[in-house]
Amino acid sequence: MPELAYLNGTIMPIENAAVPVEDRGYNFGDAVYEYVASYNGRLFYLEPHLDRLEHSMAALAFPPLPREKIRTAIETLFAEAAIDRAGIYIQISRGVAPRDHAFPADAELQFLMILRRVHEKPAVLRDKGAAAITVTDIRWGRCDIKTVQLLPNVLAKQQALEAGAYDAIFVAETGEVREGTSSNLFIIKDQSLITHPLTQRILPGITRMIILDICKAAGLSVEEAYFDKAALYAADEVFMSGTITEVLPITRIDDKPIGDGAVGPVTRRLNRDLLDRIGG
Ligand code: PDD
Repeated sequence: MPELAYLNGTIMPIENAAVPVEDRGYNFGDAVYEYVASYNGRLFYLEPHLDRLEHSMAALAFPPLPREKIRTAIETLFAEAAIDRAGIYIQISRGVAPRDHAFPADAELQFLMILRRVHEKPAVLRDKGAAAITVTDIRWGRCDIKTVQLLPNVLAKQQALEAGAYDAIFVAETGEVREGTSSNLFIIKDQSLITHPLTQRILPGITRMIILDICKAAGLSVEEAYFDKAALYAADEVFMSGTITEVLPITRIDDKPIGDGAVGPVTRRLNRDLLDRIGG
């Protein structure tokens, strides 16, 4: 049951996989990615991940790559590795060409995947909640496209760790609270959930979508609306959502407790409901 890489149709040990130095993903960040996880030997919500990958590729005017080909490649790699709880990183770049900002005339897409075992988040984060800091959102204007240009996210995550926190929350200069460095964000006030609307300023998370669906099925009130830092601090509960992140309670922000500083009932319930979907 090896961890494996896939490069343009060939499966190999991860240490053998290498891309040419003129890969546009490497030179320009001209690449998109996805991260899909499996539970108990089954890929979780693969189709929405493929939808989002198609959206990212189309938004950057990549030449089309048949969805069936992408799906088959993912399933082949997953079957070959035979790791029940795997995380598959999928990256597609515009290709390899002499460095020039303009799109290359005849480069071929570079299709790379890395499959590794998932290391679960520490249980204490789920039981006690995690701390976060807020940072100014300095990302570009198309955060709905899942590109590998992640420097603002990398720097914000590092800043959070150095501040003794788990993660950072991006807040726009205009005041809107956006999302985490690799997760979406929900607040709960008076039993109602609020999360940032789907615009070009956040990633349309698959876990976010599942949670909205769970809320609808459970009759929980949820609004896709803007909220500011004051509303974030004043929330009863806050959580982040994402693949691997799942539903992660945030109980301290900028050194202030959220609610009573403990993990709240709505977050606990949504976490349980998400685990039910994973199990089912
Ligand atoms: N990140 N927002 C951002 C900025 C993200 O990078 C991610 C996911 C999400 C949550 O999306 P989803 O629920 O589909 O995982 C929201 C992945 C996991 C990553 O960068 O590895």
